[in-house]
Amino acid sequence: MRLDKYLAETAQCTRSEAKALLAKGRVTVNGAVCRKGDTQLKEADAVAVDGKALAYRQFVYLMLNKPEGVVSASTDKRDTTVVDLVGDAYPRRELFPAGRLDKTSTGFVLLTDDGGFAHDILAPKRHVSKTYTVVIDTPLTEEMKAGFAAGVTLADGTALSPAEVSALTPDGLTVRVLLRQGVYHQIKRMFGVYGAGVNALHRDAIGGLALDESLAPGQWRELTADEGAKNNPGERTGFHPGFKKVSHFTGKIALRTTQKGPFWPENDPER
Ligand code: URA
Repeated sequence: MRLDKYLAETAQCTRSEAKALLAKGRVTVNGAVCRKGDTQLKEADAVAVDGKALAYRQFVYLMLNKPEGVVSASTDKRDTTVVDLVGDAYPRRELFPAGRLDKTSTGFVLLTDDGGFAHDILAPKRHVSKTYTVVIDTPLTEEMKAGFAAGVTLADGTALSPAEVSALTPDGLTVRVLLRQGVYHQIKRMFGVYGAGVNALHRDAIGGLALDESLAPGQWRELTADEGAKNNPGERTGFHPGFKKVSHFTGKIALRTTQKGPFWPENDPER
């Protein structure tokens, strides 16, 4: 791969920004300053910017706390999308949400550019669990609990697989729901079968990965290597291509909203 392309991918900048880094002598290959963008890199070459090693990542995985009113899509003509919240931090990546939350729902959305991973965590046969905190307008009943456990049949005849529900508060109005499938408006429709409405719905976890509580609504960060491994949807089969190469993860946690990464020329103190 060409050095300028590699820089753009790893430092998340445009080719012209990569060129500026090269021109300023901020880039080294195997310890020696390199100013030529068309240098062909070999796999073993070590590239650094300002002395910091760059690691090539094939894919990006982000954990985002979706606020209310934002839609789970890449683009939308009317509404802010979950991808809009990431701003231009990854200008060369085609990010999309792996799974959706309703516009009114809040909480954990995984954003990625890894189609295989998204397919796997969404594939019904993988049964990747999703956990929600839900505020309902009618106290949880034994009938609801038994119905969820047996598998609710929705008003349109859709027979759902078993789910779990338990009360989180003594009044039975705040509950935890665990699903292993993803049907449109699933939780609202499940409670609807029992005449209960949903006032608030927050996704807390996907698979073994909990939403980082330090992320305020609208904030996001990259998954760490550990989190990537934990959320491996192939845990049942022991294999998942997206997370096989865990070295793609930098392991560092950068809590960011829409600011750009450290190698952007505007963050260059000399500029
Ligand atoms: N179930 C719903 O009804 N809405 C969501 O956003 C997620 C699950």
